[in-house]
Amino acid sequence: MAQQKATNVTWHDGEVSREDRNTILRQRSATIWFTGLSGSGKSTIAVALERALFGIGKLSYRLDGDNVRLGINKNLGFSEADRKENIRRIGEVAKLFVDAGVISLSSFISPYKGDRDEVRELHEAAGLDFIEVFVDCSLAEAEKRDPKGLYKKARAGEIKNFTGIDDPYEPPTQPELHLKTDEMTVEDEVQMIVDYLEANGFIAKQPLTRATDLAEAH
Ligand code: ADX
Repeated sequence: MAQQKATNVTWHDGEVSREDRNTILRQRSATIWFTGLSGSGKSTIAVALERALFGIGKLSYRLDGDNVRLGINKNLGFSEADRKENIRRIGEVAKLFVDAGVISLSSFISPYKGDRDEVRELHEAAGLDFIEVFVDCSLAEAEKRDPKGLYKKARAGEIKNFTGIDDPYEPPTQPELHLKTDEMTVEDEVQMIVDYLEANGFIAKQPLTRATDLAEAH
């Protein structure tokens, strides 16, 4: 966990709570944390889930490895320390979104179990829900997909410290959801997450809304 550097700073509460914001949005916000190898399907599932949630009038927002590394984390690389800092910052950003009432969809390899556990603890200490989703795909399959051609480069020695090739990936031991993307369709994976959110009271089945109408009109 990073050290608190600034002194004489205190948290200032507002008069509108997360519960109030959740009431407006008619959802219970949480972080859905996708972890898995590059090419395992994290971003694909998050994009499909965001659209499905929008379709039933639920507000979510994606935080994605590549996107975040082009902005807030542009000063970080792929050493163990930089990956740790990457995950710590995103954990804090995800937490802010949850506090804002939004369902945050975070897709990062997040290869180290300890780093993911710290994000979970950060959420739980603030009374926020953290749903870890293991996007499980064999290295052989991820390498076959190789959507960005990065495995090929890593095998050729053109990228160092590439997860799964010459850098570790520590799978979750007790994820809330385990999606085997070698075997399942994206549609079934999204359905499994939506079912989980409904079964655990994050979203409720509800009649058509304006957002649903809009989604269908797309
Ligand atoms: S993490 O390990 O710190 O969680 P993150 O999800 O943000 O990684 O970024 C992973 C993405 O960066 C990959 O999908 C890939 O496009 C790109 N990338 C570039 N170099 C590497 C590398 N050495 N290891 C893993 N991913 C890399």
